[in-house]
Amino acid sequence: MGKGSVIMESDGNTNIEKIQESRKKYETKRSEYLYEKSKKLIPTGASSLMRTSSWEPYPIFIKGGKGSRIWDVDGNEYIDFLMAFGPVINGHANDKINAAVRKFLRDGSVFGAPHELEYKLAKKFKKFVTTQDKVIFALSGSDATFYALRIARAATGKDKILKFEGHYHGLHDYAAISVEAPPPVAGLKWFPKSLPYSAGIPSAVMDTVVVASWNDLESLSKILKIRGNEIAAIIMEPIMANSTVITPEKDYLKGVRELADEYNILLIFDEVITGFRVNEGGAQKLYGVIPDLSTWAKALGNGYPIAAIAGKKEYMELIGNGVGYGGTYFSNPLSLAASIANLKILEANDFELYSHLARITRRLARGIEEVAEELNENIYVNYETGILSFSFTELKNIRNYRDSINMDWDKYKGVQRKMLEKGIYYHPDAAERLPPSTAHTEEDVDKFIVALRESIKEYNNEN
Ligand SMILES: Cc1ncc(COP(=O)(O)O)c(C=O)c1O
Repeated sequence: MGKGSVIMESDGNTNIEKIQESRKKYETKRSEYLYEKSKKLIPTGASSLMRTSSWEPYPIFIKGGKGSRIWDVDGNEYIDFLMAFGPVINGHANDKINAAVRKFLRDGSVFGAPHELEYKLAKKFKKFVTTQDKVIFALSGSDATFYALRIARAATGKDKILKFEGHYHGLHDYAAISVEAPPPVAGLKWFPKSLPYSAGIPSAVMDTVVVASWNDLESLSKILKIRGNEIAAIIMEPIMANSTVITPEKDYLKGVRELADEYNILLIFDEVITGFRVNEGGAQKLYGVIPDLSTWAKALGNGYPIAAIAGKKEYMELIGNGVGYGGTYFSNPLSLAASIANLKILEANDFELYSHLARITRRLARGIEEVAEELNENIYVNYETGILSFSFTELKNIRNYRDSINMDWDKYKGVQRKMLEKGIYYHPDAAERLPPSTAHTEEDVDKFIVALRESIKEYNNEN
């Protein structure tokens, strides 16, 4: 057990002395050293901005993990509530998944030829996602949303897409728009401006992306009256999980479905986070609203690189009939084997692991709410099975991106820093969700709650 993990030896009861003792020993010198070294060769120090951004003064370098635990390069152990931003649904280094991958490692990792496992995974996928006719695989969530948008354009003969403020669909040019738009420059709440989330997005692409406010049918309806005939696709996270977790209001998804039909627009649900996490069939099953196309990734492969685009037969069959599609590493046997093993774990005993995940998430939510009540803190918690966020805010209802940013970001970050010292790991950016896995236990959750109570108290005393 690592230096920062004394809290984990407790039985879940508050033990301030142990926590303080562990803080004294908490050191992350090697992370600091590696960060300085890495930055000299790798811009930002790591190959994905979110791995380093918001981490102050430097990110923690992780060496390995097992189940719900991870270890950093200084030997500290943490209970992981970041879980790689969502993929690791069945815990780190899962034995069954490792065994499946090992079997195929012997035979090679990529052949540039069809593979039997691809059909097997498609069959398994269909057992989970009964609402879509056909599926095809890719490597990342960004691949999947990029191709889904292309299919929609091909299907409708229209160029524009509509996305929602604060929703994240990857970093390709059509997606990296109005992800974190600051309200002073973001235009009207009901009709936000399209703002680039990155430099280097061609203005011609910017002109093809219309932005709307999510969870607001009136806004969407007004925008479609103006632009509806030019729009090929409406893409959304059916449960918003990238600007804190925000669930759709009653009948909102149904209303969007009807508007999309009215204007001959394809509806795309980006289930990259919700897929295989909120239940076996995604948000589309949860809310009973079926999109024309949907994109899946993270929890499909338990951390192995894989993504999927699924949809109605008539649209999916445009692939190869006009729509170009492909990638050297798409559906490589190792990721296929990992995904099949992963789905086998999830489907056992009529998908009973989802009940465990639901219990764990609920316990986490209730625990945070209880801490808030006890300490007289304004904390807003929102969750669905397998995804949760909490914000330091006085708001009692958060409907969309512009609501979600009204919170105390510094406090979240300050408390997160203290949580690290107590052996709890998650991202310092309050917009990120906490995605527990089936490997998390009630005890893990209780340790989170104990550490949160102490961290908030310490933060309040110092600020
Ligand atoms: C909803 C959603 N869509 C797409 C993506 C992009 O996935 P990837 O990072 O695998 O490209 C993400 C990543 O976090 C996501 O949360």
